Amino acid sequence: MIRRSIGSSRPLNAIGLGCMGMSFAYGPAMEEADAIALLHEAIDLGVDHFDTAEIYGMGHNEQLLGKAFNDRRDKVFIATKFGPTYNRETGQRTGVDGSEKNARRAIEQSLRFLQTDHIDLWYLHRRDLSRPIEETIGAMAQMVKEGKVGQIGLSEVAAESLRAASKVHAISAVQSEFSIFTRFIEEDGVLAACKDVGATLVAYSPLGRGMLAGWSKDWKADGWDFRATMAPRFQGEALENNLALVEEIAHVASDLGATAGEVALAWVLQRADNIVTIPGTTKLTNLKQNLAAAYVKLTPAALAKLDSLAAKVKGERYDENGMKAVNG
Ligand code: ATR
Repeated sequence: MIRRSIGSSRPLNAIGLGCMGMSFAYGPAMEEADAIALLHEAIDLGVDHFDTAEIYGMGHNEQLLGKAFNDRRDKVFIATKFGPTYNRETGQRTGVDGSEKNARRAIEQSLRFLQTDHIDLWYLHRRDLSRPIEETIGAMAQMVKEGKVGQIGLSEVAAESLRAASKVHAISAVQSEFSIFTRFIEEDGVLAACKDVGATLVAYSPLGRGMLAGWSKDWKADGWDFRATMAPRFQGEALENNLALVEEIAHVASDLGATAGEVALAWVLQRADNIVTIPGTTKLTNLKQNLAAAYVKLTPAALAKLDSLAAKVKGERYDENGMKAVNG
């Protein structure tokens, strides 16, 4: 196991668990008892960093974690997020509200849903472009003062926003998509800014939303699936192209006696020592395989082979609206 701290946290397993998929995004919500059993098994396997957000299943995901963790709160580091707003009837996203009023509403709700008196890491999920980042961070810092929040993070933020935010309050974490296929943070200055301000990069979708871990051409959406409608790289010609690249990763992996998914996770963790990752899964076997990635060592030859792949990926990671909300 690799242990790394996030800000002032105790050293945490560098492979945490992204919990979104338990409630929505890639298919129907898990049965509650199954999800809670998986969360408990994750703790037993040494996972201690669990990631959720207000919008994951419109509160469903936070409430699930609340039920799973209320009798073992000291064993888990809970990260949640606020900002994006949605229509409670339809689930449609309606924008981002980084106001003090919304920050207060959101934190009170997250504490209630998560059945806890403090959130270890509280992120602004997307930047509210209608107001200065300093205003939102000021509101979040107030929650730290009140003891409701341990540390503050930002998600999908631009480097200059991160630098400005860190002048108002310490930013302990930046959560961005980062994988063999998605490397923009290395080019747009976000990873460098993380180092400068002392933030840990929390890499989400390290498995490329599953593409890097045993994806099949025959996949069919099971219920509503984000990838079928809102992720261009999972569609048509782009998908064919990208799956051919995954084959190349599988060859690298088999030389190392590992799976493509393990190589994908090892790659993320070996980019820098201020990176942790939160692959998502709804299955115990996949969780165990993901944790095994901590023991995969990538050779210089393997790294060189993987290095060129991101440039060959076709299709954006989000649709047009989704892309407008990132790099804020
Ligand atoms: P996110 O951060 O958005 O959850 P991700 O971690 O890159 O994205 O990928 C999550 C997807 O990878 C999920 O669809 C998950 O499916 P299961 O719930 O069926 O596991 C899939 N996934 C995770 N670990 C996997 C593994 N070891 N083998 C195959 N698929 C895996």
